[in-house]
Amino acid sequence: MSHHLLLIIHLLCASIWVGGHVLLVFGHLPQALREKNQNIILDYERKYEPVGMTALVLLVVTGIMMAYKYGVSIEYWFHFETPIEKVVSTKLLLLLLTVLFALSAQFRVLPKLKNNPGKLPEMTFHIISVTLIGVLMLVFGSFVRFGGF
Ligand code: HEM
Repeated sequence: MSHHLLLIIHLLCASIWVGGHVLLVFGHLPQALREKNQNIILDYERKYEPVGMTALVLLVVTGIMMAYKYGVSIEYWFHFETPIEKVVSTKLLLLLLTVLFALSAQFRVLPKLKNNPGKLPEMTFHIISVTLIGVLMLVFGSFVRFGGF
């Protein structure tokens, strides 16, 4: 697949991943906290999850395929030696952090949040963290066209 097509899919998925989280943070989270109503978040997550998770999986697949096209294959990851490899390795670490937050939300927070609005602050922390990490991945990705960092 051409690098350009991979980049277009990557950017579309980045819009969905980051945009979906920003909408949650600014469009739904304030009302949920004001009204202490966790269902506002749970309803949004239910609808967004299939689209968001598909976007995240495609981000990883297209990102890794583009990294290979830049010559950054698995044996170079996490060496932090060359500028593009530094961007790729940093994004992979942020991806790992995103997965850890997702697992923590899925298995620790969400089961309790369903019946307990007292878990809203913890869920808010997870949502804001994943959103900020997504924005960072976007900003770091933009460095590639300037030669990396
Ligand atoms: C939440 C996840 C991610 C977001 C929001 C994201 C976002 C972006 C954005 C906005 C760009 C800029 C493209 C441009 O300047 O035209 C980019 C580029 C890039 N990303 Fe990601 N990315 C994510 C995950 C990943 C992952 C997991 C990898 C794999 C290591 C990756 C590898 C790359 C590469 C290699 C580029 C350079 C493409 C190019 O300009 O040719 N990304 N990313």
